[in-house]
Amino acid sequence: MKPSPVALDPSTVARARVLVVGDVMLDRYWFGEVSRISPEAPVPIVHVQRSEERPGGAANVARNVASLGAHASLLSVVGMDEPAKSLVSLLEEYGVEAKLLEDPDFLTTVKLRVLGRQQQLLRIDFETPPSNEILLSKLNDFEKMVESAHVVALSDYGKGGLEHIEQMIALCKSAGKRVLVDPKGDDYTRYRGATMLTPNRSEFREVVGRWKSEAVFVEKAKKLRSDLDLEALLVTRSEEGMTLVRGNDVLHEPTRAREVYDVSGAGDTVIATLSVMLAAGFSMPQAVHIANRAAGIVVGKLGTASVSLKELQEDLNVV
Ligand SMILES: Nc1ncnc2c1ncn2[C@@H]1O[C@H](COP(=O)(O)OP(=O)(O)OP(=O)(O)O)[C@@H](O)[C@H]1O
Ligand SMILES: [Mg+2]
Repeated sequence: MKPSPVALDPSTVARARVLVVGDVMLDRYWFGEVSRISPEAPVPIVHVQRSEERPGGAANVARNVASLGAHASLLSVVGMDEPAKSLVSLLEEYGVEAKLLEDPDFLTTVKLRVLGRQQQLLRIDFETPPSNEILLSKLNDFEKMVESAHVVALSDYGKGGLEHIEQMIALCKSAGKRVLVDPKGDDYTRYRGATMLTPNRSEFREVVGRWKSEAVFVEKAKKLRSDLDLEALLVTRSEEGMTLVRGNDVLHEPTRAREVYDVSGAGDTVIATLSVMLAAGFSMPQAVHIANRAAGIVVGKLGTASVSLKELQEDLNVV
């Protein structure tokens, strides 16, 4: 099962439509100077000089879809607060068509990092679970939005936004749409029947236990795929690349030796690229090959969490 060389045609990719659903968050960074210790407690005082904001979680998946030049729509829940406004404007800037349902009792998920002297000093998380009413209306919107998508990507960050994931997968199946899931937690029965599941190495280990050899890994992957009635299972394996299992077919894509600067968000780039390439008509092995290249590019960048079609095309031309 060796994939053939691929060429990315921008107009084909531009026609691809991906619906991303899941937990959105705002990644916020405060950069400052540390020159003294607080008289109040033995902690450094950070004098904030500048701040940065990025869309996180499902919002980062949608951003990655858009940066490849495909059509990205996003469905999620936010609070009625200032971080929600930031997310709306960031998503607009990145060309994502976002439907963010506002829940008055919900705090938009924010991960605030305080950095001084080139290191993270503290991370502060704001999050609450969304209400039931909002989640039901989300399901309603989902049913409508699925119609115009070629592929659906469900990005589970365990914040409660995918309460109705089983119904969502069923809706995709009855609409004949492929549905990819980036999972969280240890209850994978919720993902039964999805087209593809993309756990990372430690998520996979949490569900199937340890393996001593590659043969045992493959056996466990095959079993999980068939137990959950998935078309395919893709385990992303950090510096070891990724492995796709479909029936008895196993395809391994190694990462290419390159410098690694920032691995966070690589998983978002993987599910976004897979979804776009499947929507653009590539086969599953081709989509996995391309997604692995995209992940290789994104981990080599500092500060940017997405890849453009041009960067990807250039990378694919290098054998
Ligand atoms: N250290 C690394 N060296 C080379 N490639 C890497 C490295 N880390 C990640 N990658 C690439 O990114 C892909 C996804 O990474 P990984 O398996 O760590 O997913 P993840 O844990 O879901 O990522 P995230 O940080 O977004 O949660 C890998 O399959 C690989 O292609
Ligand atoms: Mg991940």
